[in-house]
Amino acid sequence: MISWRTAIQGAFQGAFSLGFFLCICAVASGQQAAQGLTQQVKEGAPLLTDIGARQSSSTSLNGKWDFIVDPYETGFFDYRYKELAQNNPSAYWNSPHPKSKSDLVEFGWNHKYSLDVPGDWNHQKDQFLYYEGTLWYERSFDFQKKLNGSKVYLYFGAVNYRADVYLNGHKLGQHEGGFTPFNFEVPDSLLKAKDNNLVVRVNNTRHKDDVPTLNTDWWNYGGITRSVQLIEVPELFIRDFFLHLTAPATKNARIKGYVKLNRAPDKPQKFTVNIAALHFSKTFIVNSAQTALDFTLPSLELWQPGHPKRYQVELMVGTDRITDKIGFRTVKASGNKVLLNGQPLFMRGIAIHEEIPGEMRRAWSAADALQLLGQARELGCNMVRLAHYPHDETMTRAADSLGILVWSEIPVYWTIDFSSQAVYKKAARQLKEMITRDHNRASIIVWSVGNETPVSKTRTDFMHRLISMAHSLDSTRMVSAALEVNYNAGKNVNMIDDPLGQFVDLVAFNEYLGWYGGTPDKCRTTNWATPYNKPLFISETGAGATYGFHADSLTRFSEEYQVWYYKELLDMLGRMPDNWVGMSPWVLADFRSPKRNNPVYQEGWNRKGLYSDQGKKKAAFFILQKYYRQIEKSGWAPKIKKQP
Ligand code: GCU
Repeated sequence: MISWRTAIQGAFQGAFSLGFFLCICAVASGQQAAQGLTQQVKEGAPLLTDIGARQSSSTSLNGKWDFIVDPYETGFFDYRYKELAQNNPSAYWNSPHPKSKSDLVEFGWNHKYSLDVPGDWNHQKDQFLYYEGTLWYERSFDFQKKLNGSKVYLYFGAVNYRADVYLNGHKLGQHEGGFTPFNFEVPDSLLKAKDNNLVVRVNNTRHKDDVPTLNTDWWNYGGITRSVQLIEVPELFIRDFFLHLTAPATKNARIKGYVKLNRAPDKPQKFTVNIAALHFSKTFIVNSAQTALDFTLPSLELWQPGHPKRYQVELMVGTDRITDKIGFRTVKASGNKVLLNGQPLFMRGIAIHEEIPGEMRRAWSAADALQLLGQARELGCNMVRLAHYPHDETMTRAADSLGILVWSEIPVYWTIDFSSQAVYKKAARQLKEMITRDHNRASIIVWSVGNETPVSKTRTDFMHRLISMAHSLDSTRMVSAALEVNYNAGKNVNMIDDPLGQFVDLVAFNEYLGWYGGTPDKCRTTNWATPYNKPLFISETGAGATYGFHADSLTRFSEEYQVWYYKELLDMLGRMPDNWVGMSPWVLADFRSPKRNNPVYQEGWNRKGLYSDQGKKKAAFFILQKYYRQIEKSGWAPKIKKQP
């Protein structure tokens, strides 16, 4: 049995990669310092959710922030490598105030050195393209509370990978994990009306015991990559809520869920749910921090692709009020099918990295989300796999509004350290943050707990725990993981029999027959099956092509090779078993990867995109588009004849 991973090592190790790795190592060797980052852990407050719907109570801290690059951690450790005391004037969180011109000051904040927030640092300055290490951000702001007795939270959409946050010289706390949100309560005693000084130490050094680990096939963009805001809420407020439809009914539709307040109220309080468009209003009495919700809507239009109906839902307790647009639908794996609103679903998907390739940067805005999802729509997709980490909240909100189904994933990728309890905690935390942030998004139908993790008992136990956790946090969606396959040499049926298959709701696998290990004609004699009586999904498949490079179809990296790959793939799909319910080929657009070092065809890009880095459609785009159009018309994957 040869795994495609072995094949790639053979193909790409050696000549192409050496120069690049020397360069990276030079940066990394100076960064062992960052290992000491975890010595002062002070985690954030429980997450406030539905941030996208709290805009009226929010103050943006996006914009230009000053920065200091600090590969030696001078702003954090003294020369004996001890963490600087909070009030040490040399610490970079304490702005320097020289008393006289003779005072020695060896750092400072200067508008000359500034970066946009949100935004990765890599694309903003040429010298940061490969930077992995510590960079400090600083900005000042004025803030006047609008409400008496209110609370203020400082909210970060995401910082890759570690953040230490200081306000006016005091540490608010720390967060680890590059793709999920976190927030800190800002004590009244710290917040000033004028000239608050906010400093964030960001470190994106890769470590073996992080999630993800040292090795990934994507760019390690560093920085404050998502929005930063202050959110003011009344003293008693709705911290989180969850509403979902229990069965696919358009009359007397039962909604269940819960509301979580920031604390138990001192005396029973009214909590109201209004849906004006349905002339619906219901008041509950809440007397604890969490209250179960259960009510019936007399009539309802269901959310689904092609009809992404959302309702403006208003929630109120005391003086707090949230309004959010929410779609109602059901999804579940049932036997060997996936049912969306009770109807069998076929997923015409595509995998997407959170990157705007033309600008070589992380995507983060609503406009970015519309660009990426718009490209997926043009391909004919009704579903996207957001690989390999939770994308910005703007993405899942845009998917809700456009009616595109979503697979959302945590970066438990390849060879994280499955034997470590500390690593498990990091993964579990990211899973919780992902689900908490997005559990009201109708578009999300799958929580994925990882990608291509190597089979062993330790790994399966680790992943099983994550799956159970996802189920217990949210029983209304499918839980899955992209499994790796072993190609059964000499046999014509490849079995997806990873033991994790027994715990997932959707058996998903990545296959690259015809790219890794052989040419696409291998597809002609290959069939796929799983021993699990569950729906089967191809979470990745694809081949690389450099846009505009034309040759015969046997030539690697030519558009013709990619076309051939897709044609053979589609023929093979005509023989998929009955439980096959869709796919998300790899990948929407070319994306940056330090592992891709062919100096002619890759130059640091993974070229498996159907769109080029400049947004041009490669020839294979049209093959898949045609296939998806056929499926859209017929409602299911056709048992097509050989592609012309
Ligand atoms: C893997 C992996 C992706 C990777 C892709 C590739 O299966 O999941 O992250 O980029 O294959 O090799 O291009």
